[in-house]
Amino acid sequence: MAEVIIERTPQAASARAARHIAATIAARPDLVLGVATGSTPAHLYRELARIRDRDGLDVSRLTVFALDEYVGLPAGHPESYAEVVRREVTDALGLDPSRVHVPDGSAADPFAAADEYEQRMEAAGGVDVQILGIGGNGHIGFNEPGSSLRSRTRVKTLSRSTRTANARFFDEVDRVPAHCITQGVGTILDAGHLVLLAFGAGKADAVAAALEGPVTASVPGSALQLHPHVTALLDDPAAAAL
Ligand code: GLP
Repeated sequence: MAEVIIERTPQAASARAARHIAATIAARPDLVLGVATGSTPAHLYRELARIRDRDGLDVSRLTVFALDEYVGLPAGHPESYAEVVRREVTDALGLDPSRVHVPDGSAADPFAAADEYEQRMEAAGGVDVQILGIGGNGHIGFNEPGSSLRSRTRVKTLSRSTRTANARFFDEVDRVPAHCITQGVGTILDAGHLVLLAFGAGKADAVAAALEGPVTASVPGSALQLHPHVTALLDDPAAAAL
């Protein structure tokens, strides 16, 4: 059973997550932090940067691995997760860019890039704390419904619903890439501590299915129930179906 923390606002939940992660980094400066993209964790990263500035948190030895990346966007595309992570995490926190890893979605061979990413994570000793969002269809990372719960980092096809949800970052849905490289559900479950953030009524059903429904590949987020250390930070609307 996950530890579920419900706050009144996304800001309050994000601040709480940031305080916890900052304390973990302070205790263990060589932490390997897994980061999610999307709208949900943006405030958490801003809050972490604020704590770093205020308390002088040492992030010089922090290593970061992103969950996923689109395949086929040109390097430097502003909506590539490499760029999102650079803006929201690397630059915001003043991290050493050589310690920040994102799957190479512009590689000539994305299948090889996915394997190489998994090996790079292993060589780093795995992720200690993984920040997660959840898709309205229950996806974690870009593991769409139907993803094997033991899957590793690989190339996946994005569902229409995910491409539609992410069309807000592109001009139109047809410009959202159709493929991605994502850490597998099994890869995510290897992290030491999973910190799930979910905000808004649109996530309520996915959150309830993930935390309280049957464990099934139809809801990849339900794999969190297989992990011994999960903290879910929700706002009231996202917790409404629990
Ligand atoms: C995106 C990302 C996920 C993210 C999820 C929810 O497509 N690949 O890592 O957690 O979908 O996104 P958002 O936080 O924008 O709702």
